[in-house]
Amino acid sequence: MNLNARELAAGFDLEKLTPEFYANPYPTYRALRENEPVKRMPNGSWFLTRYDDLVAAYKSTKVFSSDKKKEFAPKYGASLLYEHHTTSLVFNDPPAHTRVRRLIMGALSPRAIAAMEPDLVALVERLLDGLKAKGKVDLIEDFASAIPIEVIGNLLDVPHDEREPLRDWSLAILGALEPVVSPEAFARGNTAVKDFLLYLEGLVERRRAKPGNPQHDVLTRLIQGEENGERLTEKELLHNCIFLLNAGHETTTNLIGNGLVALLDHPAQKKRLIEDPSLIKTAVEEMLRFESSNQLGNRMTVEPVELGGVSLPAGTPVTLCIGAANRDPVQFSDPENLDVGRSPNRHLAFGTGAHQCAGMALARLEGAIAISRFLARFPDYALDGEPVRGGRVRFRGFLQVPCSVGP
Ligand code: HEM
Repeated sequence: MNLNARELAAGFDLEKLTPEFYANPYPTYRALRENEPVKRMPNGSWFLTRYDDLVAAYKSTKVFSSDKKKEFAPKYGASLLYEHHTTSLVFNDPPAHTRVRRLIMGALSPRAIAAMEPDLVALVERLLDGLKAKGKVDLIEDFASAIPIEVIGNLLDVPHDEREPLRDWSLAILGALEPVVSPEAFARGNTAVKDFLLYLEGLVERRRAKPGNPQHDVLTRLIQGEENGERLTEKELLHNCIFLLNAGHETTTNLIGNGLVALLDHPAQKKRLIEDPSLIKTAVEEMLRFESSNQLGNRMTVEPVELGGVSLPAGTPVTLCIGAANRDPVQFSDPENLDVGRSPNRHLAFGTGAHQCAGMALARLEGAIAISRFLARFPDYALDGEPVRGGRVRFRGFLQVPCSVGP
């Protein structure tokens, strides 16, 4: 067992992953954490799996930069994908990051999020009615992915009949962030940025002509900027709208899908949550920890740094493995077990530090409402075929989950 774990860690290459890894990466993550927690990849980057090392990297924007201009230049060339990703706030450092983040956070205030709850509940109930009428459903297409697309669409007030392409654009743009990008995936990603920009230019023009209520409409708020005159440039505005739509979509779909499938794999925890719905908050946190929808983060060292006795020179790309850190026994007792009442649960599913997820309150609300109401309506839901995974290492989730929700 120990030798296997050592071999597993020694042979790990983020650019050469096996089907077994995609199905279940956690034995590999554990082997890495125990044997080579600061692991050099054949391409010269480093891969971190310990909780404390991730926290250290997340907390120091001075040493661990999020700016991807250097790293993405060879990956994307002079393309729209390059322009998009390097303009998104998540891939920038202070002070550019601070300015854009302040505007976005202002638009995602607790008041704005609380105001979304009644519409969210109505949407979830409508979807549940649809599931009941069908009986045999796809948990992802018919439920999990339908929720965030509507919520983010509402956030930017995208007209309902214009939302259909958003999901495919989002999948194509985020797909191009995988460690290895095929020429087809690259072309798909670029076309998606082009089409998305074209669509948003029109939407922004219409919104400028007829502004919405900035208390509820994030796009109007971002267009108008802060009272002190802080505004986004046109390029920042368009790319950060794309980023918001993407950031809040696949991740939240995966939270709901992963959570409902994890409960099926852990019937005692499912029963516990159904019998005590007040556990929904800790249950959502545990689902975020146990099957983190965003498994990897990235940074670049800007000065030499030592981690766990290993020296990393300046200019080293570093991958932060959230999926591994969230099962680190130094931080979590019995980490390989799903415990819907786990407390404390300081998981890193939303990252931490200056870039901590700006939409986490919204994601938590969506997860809690979707999962608790689903369980209340369909406590006996069951798989009706093999779930199909998304086949990605960065974003962990399912593409399809055939399911029956009872008579
Ligand atoms: C379960 C759902 C979600 C997960 C797991 C998730 C995860 C993350 C993570 C790990 C980061 C940090 C990236 C880094 O430091 O490198 C992040 C950043 C971000 N997320 Fe989320 N996210 C979720 C939902 C959302 C939603 C619903 C929104 C918007 C409505 C959103 C908007 C953002 C934004 C704007 C950032 C960038 C923050 C910054 O760079 O300052 N996310 N998210």
